[in-house]
Amino acid sequence: MNSDALQTPYFYISETGLDTDASMLKEALFENWGSNHLVGYSVKTNSLPWLLQYMKAQGFYAEIVSDTEYRLVKELGFTDSQMIYNGPIKDRAIFETILLENGYINLDSTEEPEWLEELSAAYPQQIFSVGLRVNCDIAALCPNEVLVEEEGGRFGYCYENGKLKEVMHRLSALPNVKVAGLHLHSSTQSRTVEVYAALASMAVRIAEEYSLDLSYVDMGGGYFGGREDKPDYRDYFPAICSKLREKFDPSHTTLIAEPGVSLISRATTFVTSVKDIKEIRGHSFLVTDGSRTNLNPLVTRHVYPHHLFYCDDPAGRPLVKSQWVTGFTCMEYDRLFEITDSPALRPGDKVIYDTAGGYTMCLNPLFIHYFPAVYVEHRDGSLFKARDPWDIKEFMQKNYTEERNSHE
Ligand SMILES: Cc1ncc(COP(=O)(O)O)c(C=O)c1O
Repeated sequence: MNSDALQTPYFYISETGLDTDASMLKEALFENWGSNHLVGYSVKTNSLPWLLQYMKAQGFYAEIVSDTEYRLVKELGFTDSQMIYNGPIKDRAIFETILLENGYINLDSTEEPEWLEELSAAYPQQIFSVGLRVNCDIAALCPNEVLVEEEGGRFGYCYENGKLKEVMHRLSALPNVKVAGLHLHSSTQSRTVEVYAALASMAVRIAEEYSLDLSYVDMGGGYFGGREDKPDYRDYFPAICSKLREKFDPSHTTLIAEPGVSLISRATTFVTSVKDIKEIRGHSFLVTDGSRTNLNPLVTRHVYPHHLFYCDDPAGRPLVKSQWVTGFTCMEYDRLFEITDSPALRPGDKVIYDTAGGYTMCLNPLFIHYFPAVYVEHRDGSLFKARDPWDIKEFMQKNYTEERNSHE
């Protein structure tokens, strides 16, 4: 398979690019915390089966937040003990299975402590170790941090209003249940090193305040990765670990990280072709077979890092003051970026989006077109098709009409 001949649009994964970040993460964890660390790859970020298999081969666990993710990673060979089950709505049966099989669970909801009370009574001989998702006031800890939502985070048990304390108190009444971990994932827009240091200090503060003997501290995900202009694991983990060491001993307490997009960004691109050029009232619109919906389904972004690939020498082409790259959908807002004072693009040229697809390879609306194909460039340069583009067969599955009447 030759990549020039591939039918666009498609996502492209460089295995070597993935290796770079996976190795950087392992080294940063090892150098700052020794061998007692664990990576739970965030399955929600990108659940492409090929990628999950890759993460498994790296020795990473699966960080899951739903019953579907549970079944998917099971299908791909992760055992229950290789799972970290998070999220605000858990499936009770899966919750119990993972706990009984010594996987990791970070409680988040009102009902989970109730489940645990019943489970601990049903299995009095078994010790249950659980973690608690901490909700703390990041705006107060890091006033300069840009939050995702103005109101602050909504996950976990709130430290400031005493809910966290209340859950701990409730669980301490159960003789065979131990609060073994704290989970401090935070997703902020600015993703600064300072916010991770502040969260690590929070873990120290909570462990001291409530005399917790923790087997793990889970710092969650949300890191930058694969971007020259931003911090990476080599910046985050020295800051996290120096704070954690004020209280925790790396030989006793496991450091967990749950990265998603930071492991993938560098390695992924989205390749599209120019299909048509429309000159309308002084504007030049390049119609491509990709879309904003493939790259940013919520259509909130205005910057799309990219490079161009001309199908022949652009030197002889006329210079055009403004060319707007647009998508295949019939939505007017489907305009990606403007190319100014550059050679005229023509059908067959490619627009290749860099660091694209970390989330959207799977978080991609089934709007007009369905999931694009995914190709992987292996370490030896060979190409592997990891996903066929979805067509009507995939779209129609499990759909019924009166005429087709195929409920069997
Ligand atoms: C609990 C948890 N862990 C890890 C992640 C991964 O985040 P990212 O892809 O930004 O690294 C998320 C994402 O929302 C999350 O909610």
